[in-house]
Amino acid sequence: MYCLVYMSSPSREMNPVEVQALLRRAKHNNDRDAITGILIHDRRRYLQYLEGGQAEVEATFARISVDPRHHAIIRLHGLTIDRRQFPDWAMACKMSRPDDSLKSCVERLTQDCDAQVVDQLLKFAEARDRAVLGQTARIGRSA
Ligand SMILES: Cc1cc2nc3c(=O)[nH]c(=O)nc-3n(C[C@H](O)[C@H](O)[C@H](O)COP(=O)(O)O)c2cc1C
Repeated sequence: MYCLVYMSSPSREMNPVEVQALLRRAKHNNDRDAITGILIHDRRRYLQYLEGGQAEVEATFARISVDPRHHAIIRLHGLTIDRRQFPDWAMACKMSRPDDSLKSCVERLTQDCDAQVVDQLLKFAEARDRAVLGQTARIGRSA
């Protein structure tokens, strides 16, 4: 079993109908390819975790990485894992709450996950939270 994590930025804000269409397609394909995972969306970023057979996960990521609906994709090295972390989710989509840090959203979603997977997701979430804090500080200074 293999997993990978990436983060990206939406190219533009998608309306709920577009998001539903994206998720329907993702779930359909992931069911077919026995891929499970989560997608966390906080309006400015996507954080996605995919798990399954290595060939299927890499093929899925290859399609995702050329999708014009997002850009600035950064992925971490894939990891071998002993078991599925999200066996019930072809693709769970969580919108993090506006007043919430990405880190606490990840922590809530990964309570039953193995430490190495939590680490991978938190690496991105913490970097993202630091970037948001930096922006807030800059906005605060210039105001
Ligand atoms: C943020 C984001 C997450 C996506 N996640 C998945 C996914 O988990 N599985 C998937 O098959 N496609 C996903 N897609 C869609 C793919 O980029 C691509 O459009 C789709 O796989 C094409 O499938 P098709 O060839 O069956 O039309 C995602 C797209 C975006 C922008």
